[in-house]
Amino acid sequence: MDSGMDWHWARAALDWQVELGIDEAIGETPVDRFAHEAAEQAARAAPVAAPEPKAGATATPMAEPEGPDPVDLAREAARGAGSLEGLREAMAGFEHCELKRGARNLVFCDGVPEARVMIIGEAPGREEDRQGKPFVGRAGQLLDRMLGAIGLSRAESVYITNVLPWRPPQNRDPRPDEIAMMTPFLTRHIELADPDLLVIMGNISCDALLGKRGITRLRGKWTEAAGRPVMPMFHPAYLLRQPGMKRHAWADLLELQAKLKALG
Ligand code: URA
Repeated sequence: MDSGMDWHWARAALDWQVELGIDEAIGETPVDRFAHEAAEQAARAAPVAAPEPKAGATATPMAEPEGPDPVDLAREAARGAGSLEGLREAMAGFEHCELKRGARNLVFCDGVPEARVMIIGEAPGREEDRQGKPFVGRAGQLLDRMLGAIGLSRAESVYITNVLPWRPPQNRDPRPDEIAMMTPFLTRHIELADPDLLVIMGNISCDALLGKRGITRLRGKWTEAAGRPVMPMFHPAYLLRQPGMKRHAWADLLELQAKLKALG
């Protein structure tokens, strides 16, 4: 950089600003947002003329992305992992998901790998990114209380991971291509941990494992994925925003408890 600022210095300065609670970038030159909006409106209102095809020209196909498909590469890397530790290493070495570049840590798992119950969340938040462990922020504390209410805990009886191991910037929703490229790692993670059943929390987890969203409809009903029973539930972060929905989560927890008993 010709400003005399190297990458590490710039990254440290940015981290410091995030620590202070700054979550929006503001440029040095003022922006006239009214003029910008007016120009955008005018552009939207203007009819878009399709370019005349040249005589004899054939339609140009959409440019194919270059290089191998990251989903295939993820499948191959995941298949090659013969243990949970191997899978962690394979994920740490996977360079095709751009979330990795913005994250501090790979968030792989917490809890007991041999547990009968595997909980799958969405993606790490700020605290998880900092500590390198899933569900350690406010949503995680609620999750611990929910599990405790039916006698489960991450210290003894559940294993926890997320669809995405890296925190999306500003906690934005992960993009479909990011979910698709990390799902082979998730399904291998399930195979290697081999729990009796899965609890999937929120829409991103439903998307990755069931191929559909709509947690309000899906929650509370047993379904199947990765060759085992799956209970979709409201995400604890949603329950923090909508405490009135906790009664549904309680019903789902009782279902989970009953299923564990029934499976013996
Ligand atoms: N939300 C998630 O889905 N996972 C975490 O690890 C933290 C918050």
